[in-house]
Order: sequence, then structure tokens, then C-alpha cells
Amino acid sequence: MTAVTDILRTMDYGPAPEANSEVVAWLEKHEGRFLHFIGGRFVAPAEGTFFPVVNPAHGNRLAECAQGTAKDIDKAVAAARRAQKSWSALSGDARARYLYAIARIINKRERFFSVLESMDNGKPIRESRDIDIPLVIRHFYHHAGWAELIESEFSGYEPVGVCGQIIPWNFPLLMLAWKIAPALAAGNTVVLKPAEFTPLTAIAFAEICMEAGLPAGVVNIVTGDGATGSLIVEHKGVDKIAFTGSTEVGRVIRKATAGTGKKLSLELGGKSPFIVFDDADLDSAVEGVVDAIWFNQGQVCCAGSRLIVQEAVAEKMHAKLRARMATLRVGDPLDKATDIGAIVADVQLERIRKLVAEGRAEGAACYQSDAALPDEGLFYPPTLVTGVAPASILAQEEIFGPVLVSMTFRTPEEALALANNSRYGLAASVWSESINVTLDAAARVKAGVVWVNSTNLFDAASGFGGYKESGFGREGGREGLFEYLVPSIEKKSVKVPKVAAVDFSAAPPAQAVDSAPARPPLDRTAKLYVGGKQARPDSGYSYAVYDASGEEAGQVGLGNRKDIRNAVEAAHKAGGWGSISGHNRAQVLYYLAENLEARAEEFGERIATLTGVRGRAADEEVALAIRRISFYAAHADKYDGRVHATRSRHVTLAMNEPWGVMGISCPDEAPLLALVSLVAPAIAMGNRVVVTPSPVYPLVATDFYQVLDTSDVPAGVVNIVTGDREALAKTIAEHDDVAAYWYFGTKEGSAMVEAASTGNLKATWVNHGRAVDWTSAVDGQGRRYLRHATQVKNIWVPYGE
Ligand code: NAI
Repeated sequence: MTAVTDILRTMDYGPAPEANSEVVAWLEKHEGRFLHFIGGRFVAPAEGTFFPVVNPAHGNRLAECAQGTAKDIDKAVAAARRAQKSWSALSGDARARYLYAIARIINKRERFFSVLESMDNGKPIRESRDIDIPLVIRHFYHHAGWAELIESEFSGYEPVGVCGQIIPWNFPLLMLAWKIAPALAAGNTVVLKPAEFTPLTAIAFAEICMEAGLPAGVVNIVTGDGATGSLIVEHKGVDKIAFTGSTEVGRVIRKATAGTGKKLSLELGGKSPFIVFDDADLDSAVEGVVDAIWFNQGQVCCAGSRLIVQEAVAEKMHAKLRARMATLRVGDPLDKATDIGAIVADVQLERIRKLVAEGRAEGAACYQSDAALPDEGLFYPPTLVTGVAPASILAQEEIFGPVLVSMTFRTPEEALALANNSRYGLAASVWSESINVTLDAAARVKAGVVWVNSTNLFDAASGFGGYKESGFGREGGREGLFEYLVPSIEKKSVKVPKVAAVDFSAAPPAQAVDSAPARPPLDRTAKLYVGGKQARPDSGYSYAVYDASGEEAGQVGLGNRKDIRNAVEAAHKAGGWGSISGHNRAQVLYYLAENLEARAEEFGERIATLTGVRGRAADEEVALAIRRISFYAAHADKYDGRVHATRSRHVTLAMNEPWGVMGISCPDEAPLLALVSLVAPAIAMGNRVVVTPSPVYPLVATDFYQVLDTSDVPAGVVNIVTGDREALAKTIAEHDDVAAYWYFGTKEGSAMVEAASTGNLKATWVNHGRAVDWTSAVDGQGRRYLRHATQVKNIWVPYGE
């Protein structure tokens, strides 16, 4: 007989399987075949085709689901459209009751959903039971609250309309909740497509919607693969796409939606750093690694997949990790003692194997625990990779498997450089017993979520989403709701006077003269403004601009690709602007307003001559521009973040961080006021900008840089490149060192900017050709501009023992 002491020594224990009879009965009741959920009922697929759904742990077929085709999507979108008006017309309180009911019912079926999720996805029951499903419930409860508050907390906003939502397979029901709960709270209706590997909990959720009495068409669920997803993306009746999945597909969706006016949020891949300083509690950090990279088999977008450990403790940390890896149990997901379950599908397993093999070929050392893997099913052992160069494939590519890559550093500077050496920026974990060290790293790491001495913490009250190629938009909390709302003002159209077309091709070379005169004429070409200095355009060309009476008003430089590149470089060098205090930035902005005021008369005359607006209107434009600068100066130290109410004994700091380098293209209406209305909020928040002014009235901007010069605006914070807005816009949109781009120009230009921005997936804000009433304090000014000038970083700081 085994003695208790033997058990304690080996920690061996027998199987503890979770019963799956309820789920099996449910599958049998449906005869293993599931239809689409459209307009409040289950409907057969138009083409009559189905695809199999397999349990990755055993390889057995669980069911088959309908393959969505164009007719199904048409039907689903039509149902969502029909339902949207009445759903949004309901009181927030009524919508809250439905969301509350959904939360309650899932709460009652927690075990059923956990088992179904684990069978469909392969994740350990411990995780689906203790993490996924509780978070799903929390999300619906939390958003029931938002439904109640939406009118009072978001006045001036309205629902987007019909939302197409496409989700991945790694957290099937949780991603559904992250999408559906905020959409419904805000008064939208949805067409959701679960991933083809894991559609079953979404179907079970559809049944919950029926049970909760949700009005028909508010939630529609269409199953299918990527082709079905792209039909949703391309459907004309959809007003917004919310996508979670690979960066590759995110790019395809950005392109497909460009210029359609569809709102878009993308939650994409990651390669998140897990930084361990030499004073960290190493045992806690090891447990952190377990939760960071071996949670859900590493198939987590925010998985801490890059261990960046201080050299002095690296060996010790690796040894502890190897010892811990030996105790991880890989096996049946329904066994309550399993730590690591099955990989979702054979293609994913193949992808992991291939990447690890490539890493090995590059010379990386792979350590895998020798724990036995089950004989059948899709399993991969926990893996620790050392000896990788920062540029190696395993350090750069998202593996999406239980593979940890380790690198070492000597100084905090080096740690941050390694951490930020990634095209992604989803999450980061920082481990040190010194609060100063952790918060310093948290502030400097480029990631949407940072966990201090912890990892993979989530809550409905906190936003989640990435920097850089990890996407844009946030899910959860107050910041997440903006993704499902549109400002009512943006639906109003504004009439603007027509402006004369500019002929850039007729540009004479700057200072072109036939023969050298005895005394060269004074060069009156207004130059570009780059890095705090006037700069000749690279092309050497200028173009003529005319005043309202048709007289030539002057020549301005014709900026090109190279000038934009120089301007971006200058903007990058001015990084200090983002780290000085809001107070200091405010002082510079007030000074700018003051100096503009000193020259108000001159600017008024210039605007009147150029645009032909009557004298008073031109003076008013200048007066408003001065006030606008003061408005954003005032906000520079007031548009601050929040502390989200997430878990107890956790401070979750939602910080509004500047993007860094932004592009801004100005419209032709109100040339000074529009320029100021766009530049002031951007720089007030700490961004540096590359601005292209109105190509029709660029002289207003070139006059303005003289004001910048006298106002202590540091060199490189504002860079002005005159020229053809559309040509310059393409270069800005394609520039991978520009993090965000506001384009206010034509409809076609807006489409081009969105399509050309896919390189680094920069966040774009375009006007789709809609003119803005810059004189309006609602349309041309407000917190909306500040929100677009920042991205939210959520820093989680647990406290207590
Ligand atoms: P995927 O991005 O292809 O799939 C995610 C969802 O998008 C699924 O519902 C899929 O049907 C749908 N989809 C695929 N192509 C589409 C298209 N052209 N238009 C609209 N919808 C489309 O991800 P996949 O192929 O399953 O996984 C590949 C890699 O992507 C993984 O190894 C991982 O690196 C990454 N990934 C990242 C996720 C994240 O949460 N950030 C989630 C899933 C995958």
C-alpha cells in the first residue's frame, strides 16, 4: 500500500476527471448538429454545408456546425438591422435587465460552460472553471451596469449600429463576452462569428439569449471559417467591425474596411516581455511565468512569452524554472489536476513545432520537461528556450504555444530596449521588489497592459488592448465603451465654401532664375519647418498660392517623401516633450496663445486676404484659435487617467499616454483655426507632430511657425511640411515610425490613408470628407480630440502580502 509519506514525496495523484455527462447529453439532444442563430431562432445554413468540430484532446468529433455563406450573413445583418432601432430605443435600465439576466443564467450553468469550453478548446478545466467562465459572468454584470449609465456617462454619443464581431479560438466564450456585452450595453446589435475550431459555447450562449428573452435579432451568431468572417467584414450593412485574432488577418480587415466608414477595433497578436530584475522574489516570478506562458498552453495573445531576466539571477531563475516545469502535468483537459491541456488544432500544433525547429536551427537551446504526454490528442510539452539573439525568429514571432524564450540583461536600460524591441505591444510583466524600479519600467515599456509583480490579470472594469502592431482600441471598462459609440456631432454635415484647386505640377523650381543677376532677388518662398528650423524642400521646388482675388500671394515649398521622413526623424528626436510635466507643456501652450494674440491683427488680415472671408470673420477665426490653444493648455495637466475599480487589493492605473510621433493633415476650411484645433490637443498630450497644412492656404501655417519659434516650443515638437496634402498623406500613412495619424481632407484621401496605414497598423482618425465646424466648441473642440491624441495603458499593481 502507498504510504502518505510516499505520496507527499512524489506528489503523485490519481486522475480526477470532471463529469461531462451534461455536455454529452446536450450534444446528443442536438444530434451533434448546430445551426446559425439568426433573428432569435436557429436557422439552417443557406448552402446546407457543415463543418466538423473536434475535441483536440482526444480527436473525437463533438458536433458539426453550419458553414456561413453570403445569404446567411445577409440574413443575419438584416435581422440585426431590424432589431437595432428598438433595442437602442429601450431605456438603459431595460437593456441592463437583459444583460443582467444573461449573467445570471450563465452563472447558474457555470459548470456546463466550463466543461463544454474545455472539450471544445482543450484548455484545462481548472482554467475554464476558475478563469474563463467567471470572467464571462463578470463581464455581463459589469456591462449591465454600463447599460444603466450609458446616457448619463456618455452624453453626446450614440450607438454605432450593427456590429460585426469576429473572435478567435483561445478564449471562445470570454472573447464573445468581451464583444457582445459592451456592444449591447451601448445599444448596438451584433452579428458574431466564433472561430471555426471552437464554436460550441457561442451556440450554447445563443440558447441563453433565448432563455433570457432577448429581443430577436439583437444577437446573431453565424458559424464558419475565415471566408465567413470576410463576408461580415465586407458587408455593406455592417457599421463596425471588432476583431480579435492574428495580426495578419487584422491587416486584411484594415484594408478591406478602408474608406467604408466602418468603425474598427483590432486586438491582435503579441510577444509580451516578462522582465525579472535581480531583486525580484524569484519563486513568485517562477509562478508568474507558469501563469504567463503555460496558461492556456501559451495560446494567449498577451502571454509573457519573452523572459527578460537580469544576468546576475538568470541561471538561478532558469534552474528554478526547470524544476517547476518538471511538476507541470500535461494531459486530459477535463482532469482537475491537469496544468497544461491540448493545443487547439493540428495546424496550430504544426505551427509551434515548425517555429521551434527553426529556432533550433538558428542555434537556440530548447529544454523540455520529460513529463509524459498523452498517447492521443494534440499536446506540446512546456518548453524553455535559451541562447536566443534578440532578432532571432523565436524572440520575434508570436508562437502561440507553451514556449518561453529567455534573454538576459545587465541594466534597466538594456531591459527596456529588449522589451520594446518588438513590433508588438500588447502586455508586459515587471518583477522587482522595488516599487520605483517596477513603475519606472511600467511607464517606459510600450504596451497596453502592464502587470507589476503579477501577470495575466483581467477584469471587466479595466481596458485591454495593444500598442503598435498589437492593434488599436480597448476592450473593457470605460475606455472600451467608446468602441461601440459614435459622437452624435459626427453625423451632422457641415457646409463649407468651395476652395480653388491648386496646381502642384506647375511648380517652378525655387529661386529659378534665367541668368544670375548682379543682385539676386530676395527669396520669398516660404520654407518648411523641420526640427525647429526653416528648411528648403528636398525637391527644390515650390508652388504658387493665390489670394481670394486671384493674385499670387506667395510661393511655398513643395514637400515630398524625403521631407516627411526628415520631419518624422526630427519629431522622434524631441522625445523629451512627452516626459515633461503637463504643467510645463501648458506653460508653453499659453505662451503660444499669447504670442499669437500679439500678432492677431496681422493673422486676421492674412486670413481675410487669402480666403476672402470678411474682415470680422477672419478676426474671429484668430480669436477662436487663441482660445482653442488656451483650452488645450488648460487640459494639458487635467486630461488625466483613472484608477479602475477592478479586483480588491489591486490598483489598476489607466494612464493616458501620448502616441509619440503623430501625423496631422489639415483641411482647407478655417486654415488657422483647423490647424490649431488639431495641433494643440496633440501636443498638449505630449505628442510630437508632423503637420501638413491646407495646401490652398499654407501661408497661414508658415506664418504660424514664426509664432512657434518665439514661444519656447522645443525643436521637433511641431514640424510643418507644405505641399500636396494627398501625396504627403500617403507617405505619412505608410511611415512605420508614425504611431497615429489624423487626416482631415477628402473622402478619397481618407480611404487611401486607412488602406495605406496597414504597415505598422497605426491608429488613424479620418473625416471621410466630412467638413468640421471648427468654430463649434462641440465639433471642433473637446475631450474627443484628447482621447484620439492618447492611448490608454493599464498598469496593475497588486498590494498586500
Ligand atoms: P485567425 O486570425 O486566422 O483567426 C481568428 C478569427 O478570424 C477566426 O474566427 C477566423 O475564422 C477569422 N478569420 C480568418 N480569416 C479571416 C478574414 N480574412 N476575414 C475575417 N475573419 C477571418 O487566427 P488563426 O489562423 O486561427 O491563428 C493563427 C495565429 O494567429 C496564431 O498562431 C496566433 O499567433 C494568432 N492568433 C492570435 C490571437 C489573439 O488573440 N491575438 C487569437 C488567434 C490567433
